[in-house]
Amino acid sequence: MIKQNVFLLRVGFLGFLFLSVSSCQCDRADSTKNAPLSAEETLVNKGRLVYQANCSACHNSNVKMNGSQGPALFGSSKELLTAKILDGVYPEGYAPKRSTGLMPKLPHLKNDIDALHAFINAAQ
Ligand code: HEC
Repeated sequence: MIKQNVFLLRVGFLGFLFLSVSSCQCDRADSTKNAPLSAEETLVNKGRLVYQANCSACHNSNVKMNGSQGPALFGSSKELLTAKILDGVYPEGYAPKRSTGLMPKLPHLKNDIDALHAFINAAQ
């Protein structure tokens, strides 16, 4: 009799464990979490990765703040990013934030300008 009760207790406990794990809504608290990303969000996410890998060593990881060497980039136009990253120059008539001339050209990022632009100017 006692053995049987212990067995039932164990089964009950396992059942309880199963229910608590399977009914866990931990990941679903935010209903938008499982929604597919919009094209814009995907571009911003890609831009974040490119930025962190190629820019944040000199520019701040927070695009609204100055970095160790480069100025804050929030608000940069696609034209400015393209000129500076691909050719190391500024669009005509643009007044550079700094005149150090230290930033290297990064022409391998020519296909990532759109993503960088989206990330740098995303509201954050
Ligand atoms: C080696 C350090 C370094 C890296 C890496 C770097 N920058 Fe810069 N960046 C600078 C510095 C320093 C300036 C200030 C002007 C200069 O010295 O060329 C600058 C200026 C700029 C400007 C002009 C800002 C303005 O409004 O005057 C833009 C835009 C820019 N960087 C974008 C980027 C992006 C995007 C990346 C990554 C793809 C990047 N930089 C990577 C150092 C860097």
